[in-house]
Amino acid sequence: DPKVVEVRLSAQKAKVTLEAGREVEMYTYNGVFPGPLLQARAGDRVVVHFTNQLPESTTIHWHGLRISDQMDGSPRIQAPVPAGGTFTYDFVAPEEGSFWYHPHIRANEQVEKGLYGPIVIRSEDEPRYDAERFLLLDDIYLQGSTLAPFLEDGMEAMHGRYGNILLTNGVPFGEGLSAVVERGRMERWRIVNTANARTMELTLKNAAFRVIGTDGGLLPAPYTTSRLELSVGQRYELEVTFENPGSVELQMLVATSNGSGQVVETPYTVFALDVAVSGVSPRAVSWPLRTLPQRVVDETVTVELDGVNDPVHGLRWQINGQSHPTAPLFTFKKGRTVRMRLVNLAGPEHPFHLHGQFFQVVSDSSRFSVPPGLKDTVLVPGLSTVEIEAYMDNPGRWMAHCHILEHAELGMMAELVVEP
Ligand code: C2O
Ligand code: CU
Repeated sequence: DPKVVEVRLSAQKAKVTLEAGREVEMYTYNGVFPGPLLQARAGDRVVVHFTNQLPESTTIHWHGLRISDQMDGSPRIQAPVPAGGTFTYDFVAPEEGSFWYHPHIRANEQVEKGLYGPIVIRSEDEPRYDAERFLLLDDIYLQGSTLAPFLEDGMEAMHGRYGNILLTNGVPFGEGLSAVVERGRMERWRIVNTANARTMELTLKNAAFRVIGTDGGLLPAPYTTSRLELSVGQRYELEVTFENPGSVELQMLVATSNGSGQVVETPYTVFALDVAVSGVSPRAVSWPLRTLPQRVVDETVTVELDGVNDPVHGLRWQINGQSHPTAPLFTFKKGRTVRMRLVNLAGPEHPFHLHGQFFQVVSDSSRFSVPPGLKDTVLVPGLSTVEIEAYMDNPGRWMAHCHILEHAELGMMAELVVEP
C-alpha cells in the first residue's frame, strides 16, 4: 500500500567507530548510529515494528509529530518495552517537517549512548532543491573509549551534560564528512540538536543561506540571518546556495574563557564541503503557500521553572513547585489557544518542550525579538520569561518538560491534558 510506511527498528548495543582507532560501545537503532532515516508523506500511516534488544526497558518518542498520545512513547501512557520485548508503533504522520525520534525513559543515558534518528515528513508541494541533507548535531562525553559515568558531578545536574567531542551524524568533524558540489547549486539542510544539554550557536561560512523552516515545518516567508541559536530538541531548515568556489563550513561558536577572565567564541567546524569552480546559475525556487495561525488567546497560564537543593543529587528541578508531578499541571479543551508564560526563576537555561502540539513564541524578556515559526521547543534563558501561544489541537495526555535531559530526569517533567 503506497500510503503505508512499514519499518523495523531494533534497539541494540553495537560497537561504533567514532574516529580512526576509537571504537565505543553504544546503544543504536538497527546497529547504526545515528538511527536510520524514517521518511513518509504527510497523511501516510507509519507502522514501526520495534524490538528491544537492550538490557533495559525503553520506549520511542517521535519528537514533534502530533500523533495519538497512545503512540507517543510517554512512559506515563505506554508500558515501557522491557528487555527482549516488542511493541508496534502505528500512527498517521500529520504534517510535513523535520523531526526526530529518541527514547523517553532514562533519556539522559539512552540518548547520550546513541539512541536517536531523523524523521522527514514530506508534502506534495514542497520546494524542490538539488539535494537535501539532514545534519544531526550532538556532543558526547567520552573518557577514553567509554562514555563518562552519568550524573556524577554537580555541574551535570546543574547545567546538563556537556560533551567533549562534537558529532555530526555520528562522526567527529574531519572523519570523512565532506563532499564536493557544483557552484550555483541549492540545497535544503535540515538541522537538529540531539545533544543532552548544549545550546548551539551556528553560522555558515562562504555560502548564502535562508531559514526556511522550524520545528513545525516550512515558513510562510524565508528569512536571512547571520547566525542561528539551536537549543536541544529544536530543528531549523536552511536553504543553502553555493555562490562561490571554495570551502563552505558550518561552524558552531563555542563560548570559552580565554584564561584572562574574558569569554571568547571559538568556531568549530562541524560540517564542510567544497564548492567546485565550474557550476550552474542558481535558479529561483518557487515557494509554496504556508500560513501561521493567528488565533485569539482563550486563556493564560504560568509555568514556573526552578531548582531546589536535594540531599541525593544535590539538585532537584521543578515545574510549578513540584518535581515529576503525577497529577496533570493543566487541563485544556481541544482547540483552545493558550498563552503560556514560561518563567525561569533560576540561572541555568531551560529548553521547554511540549509534546503533541505546536506553539509560536510571542516574547522573550531577554531579547528584542523572537524568530518566527511554529515550534515544539523554546529556550527559556536564565532569569527570563518567555511567552508562547500554544495551540491545544491534539487531544490526549502530553508531556511538558525541559529538554535538557538531566533536568527532565531530575524532576522538570510534567504532564498536561487536552480534552477531546
Ligand atoms: Cu524530544 Cu519529551 O522529548
Ligand atoms: Cu532545564
